[in-house]
Amino acid sequence: MNHQELYELANSARRRSYAPYSHFTVGAALLTKSGKVYLGCNVENAAYGAVMCAERTAFFTAICEGERDFAAIAIAGGREGEAGDVCAPCGICRQVMAEFCDKDFEVILGSNEGVKVYSLDEILPLSFTKENL
Ligand code: THU
Repeated sequence: MNHQELYELANSARRRSYAPYSHFTVGAALLTKSGKVYLGCNVENAAYGAVMCAERTAFFTAICEGERDFAAIAIAGGREGEAGDVCAPCGICRQVMAEFCDKDFEVILGSNEGVKVYSLDEILPLSFTKENL
């Protein structure tokens, strides 16, 4: 599974997004070290605080299936009906990544122009993790 293929899976999950309030649709594809992929999309709610991001949907689904070792996540997002530009993960999702992933976990951000790959350490430097407790 290469970076572009994982991004395309994120785009397919984006089509299942439920975003009637923000009209901003996001999909994520989370790759385990054993090669399995878990998808997620954002799921909104009339009570805005109940909104769940695509990335955490994918993580929590995978965790619930017993997965603990993750290699990469690809994220595809943008305004509903538009191709989508680079969609960087929110701070809460980065913190969830830091709970379960090593610093070299790959975060793949895509757009029409292709994909760019960042390490978790690059996008969440000086993080607070279980090592601090
Ligand atoms: N959203 C995500 O799913 N992931 C992100 O990393 C950024 C934001 C969703 C949450 C909400 O449904 C919509 O995008 C607008 O914030």
